[in-house]
Amino acid sequence: MSIQENVSLKHLNTLGIDAQARYYAHIDHAQHLRDLLQHKKLQSLPRLILGGGSNVLFLNDFKGTVMHMTVGGIATIREDPAHVWVKAGAGVNWHTLVRYCVEKGYSGIENLSLIPGTVGAAPIQNIGAYGVTLSDTFESLEAMEVDSGSVRTFTTQDCAFGYRDSVFKNACKEPYVILNVTLKLQKQPTFRTTYGELQETLEAMGIQKLSIKAISDAVIHIRQNKLPDPAILGNAGSFFKNPVILQEQFKKLRDTYPNIPGYIQSENQVKIPSAWLIEQCGWKGKRRGDVGVHTQHALILVNYANGTGQEIYQLAQDIQQSVKDTFNIEIVPEVQLVS
Ligand code: FAD
Ligand code: EPU
Repeated sequence: MSIQENVSLKHLNTLGIDAQARYYAHIDHAQHLRDLLQHKKLQSLPRLILGGGSNVLFLNDFKGTVMHMTVGGIATIREDPAHVWVKAGAGVNWHTLVRYCVEKGYSGIENLSLIPGTVGAAPIQNIGAYGVTLSDTFESLEAMEVDSGSVRTFTTQDCAFGYRDSVFKNACKEPYVILNVTLKLQKQPTFRTTYGELQETLEAMGIQKLSIKAISDAVIHIRQNKLPDPAILGNAGSFFKNPVILQEQFKKLRDTYPNIPGYIQSENQVKIPSAWLIEQCGWKGKRRGDVGVHTQHALILVNYANGTGQEIYQLAQDIQQSVKDTFNIEIVPEVQLVS
């Protein structure tokens, strides 16, 4: 097991923040992780499990050990006439898993095409896009308990999935490292095309007959046109979650802002796009030195080249404050802040 010292993380996070890790190791096997967790020199230091780095903001240099998950492997582990169970290692690129399923005709995650990052991070915030979330096909995962090195299986119920949320952002944030994830997919596809933009794109692409591949292609098309490519412009996707507010508050806001968009979540809850709130506050396209708000999408904070974690964080705080002052709504980061 090789442990490197003072490693730049600039190319290991999609925001391109040039933070340094005091120690760095990559983990391609559960036993490597166990060894690393028991390593005497590192035991008292903070740890960060890193996947693709597409949902983290490094506020400073990281004074502990960055454990970069590269555990690989995709396999079909079980079948019945209607379903197939696919298991993938935590370090597998998420879109590689999507492509594997699309090519084999396994239905369930095609709407989640092209989300950056790894399989192991997908349950952390229950990734979602275009009307589908990971929890829709999730079967189970295996995670190593940090203190004992033992491996525990988590079912859907154990994971307590919510909107961009799970037990791994809460009670199980520190004590467990995800090793692999198993999904239950369908042999006969169920097409989920209710998300307006997806329907429009399928029509615009002239798709006559729906297929898993057509949906995947349409999602890829939308994403490539709408979201900045981190390889070209540093970003972490949506920086904030979309707030969910009470119907009552929504109705009052609509009196003042008749165009405010809102998506009904339950009888008395409405989800508001943070992008709209941020744009109304005048932030879209604003730039401060090397950091800013994307010109095409107000929910995406960008690093033009050499922006620091602190600069992004200060910008995020100012945005939060102005949304609070204008609408009396708190928006909270989706991105994990690492100090
Ligand atoms: P990282 O950023 O490396 O880590 C994120 C968090 O998970 C950290 O707290 C880390 O410690 C923890 N973690 C990572 N791996 C493990 C593990 N094996 N065990 C325990 N903890 C772990 N997200 C969506 O939900 N929907 C989208 O549509 C979407 N679009 C995006 C578009 C762009 C352009 C970008 C840059 C990001 C987007 N995201 C989206 C956010 C991001 O892709 C997801 O959150 C993704 O799951 C993060 O994966 P990662 O491997 O990069 O995680
Ligand atoms: N909008 C604006 N200004 C903008 C952009 C959008 O006002 O600059 C408004 C429009 O009214 C638009 C609405 O916001 O209809 C929603 O925008 P979009 O469809 O782009 O979705 P989003 O709410 O910004 C969410 C997820 C994305 C996911 C898409 C598609 C969150 C925090 N973000 O974005 O996930 O890909 O829906 O399902 O829920 C991510 O998590 O990183 C991410 C990219």
